[in-house]
Amino acid sequence: MSFEQVEEAHRFLAGRLPIHPAVGVVLGSGLDGLAVELSERVEIPYEGIPHWPRSTVVGHSGRLAVGRLGETTVAALAGRAHLYEGYSAAEVAFPIRVLGLIGVQAVVLTNAAGAINLSFRPGQLVLIADHINLQGTNPLLGESDERFGPRFPDMSEVYPARLRALAGACGRELGLELAEGVYAALPGPSFETPAEIRWLRAIGADMVGMSTVPEAIAAAQMGVPVLGVSSISNMAAGILPQKLSHEEVLAVGRQVRDTLTALLQKVIPRL
Ligand code: HPA
Repeated sequence: MSFEQVEEAHRFLAGRLPIHPAVGVVLGSGLDGLAVELSERVEIPYEGIPHWPRSTVVGHSGRLAVGRLGETTVAALAGRAHLYEGYSAAEVAFPIRVLGLIGVQAVVLTNAAGAINLSFRPGQLVLIADHINLQGTNPLLGESDERFGPRFPDMSEVYPARLRALAGACGRELGLELAEGVYAALPGPSFETPAEIRWLRAIGADMVGMSTVPEAIAAAQMGVPVLGVSSISNMAAGILPQKLSHEEVLAVGRQVRDTLTALLQKVIPRL
């Protein structure tokens, strides 16, 4: 995906948005409750935006909602594209690069994840402290365009402690104790085997999912800080004597949706 394509999407949106978004937020599986909370909301379906990848997954709706949360202007992406749909990592990260050109000061990336850490429980929100990229790909592969940022970006603080501390404080105001963890990203779409989960635990992962990392890498390259929030939808494979299903992921997502929305409403105006 070239810089010119990102610029074209940026120009398209700049001509249609009544406000300039200061914060971008990607809403994961069944987690799109925030979008309708934005005041003075303008919604743009992904289909209309040049080069924008569409999500084909059930539970991902596919629209950009722009509006206000209090004083803060927000661009909320309800639905995202995934590698397992056949998109490249650069295509998956395209919307984040558009947000980067718009000039957002931070992005919030949310996802549904399986818990590897045995102290986590389904229905819990966990702040992403770091990630392990096991997707076998990277959105920065290919020809380098320095207008996005450096060829070899530093990844030592993709999810700054300052943003996690802020989210932790907002959580406490809501009576939530937010844990932190390392997110391992796999391409999917098959869930992991129990052996893979034991290996992921051994290498330091606390939760596992199929998204977020391409977007986080693209944001880091552009110098945009990321707040990552995983909604734990299930214990990972092999921990409990039961099978994993996308239906379960969506059902738990719906239960957690309002809590996540409340957290985002508190934290986004303070980013
Ligand atoms: N594995 C991978 N991705 C997921 C899971 C899981 O257990 N739960 C939600 N997304």
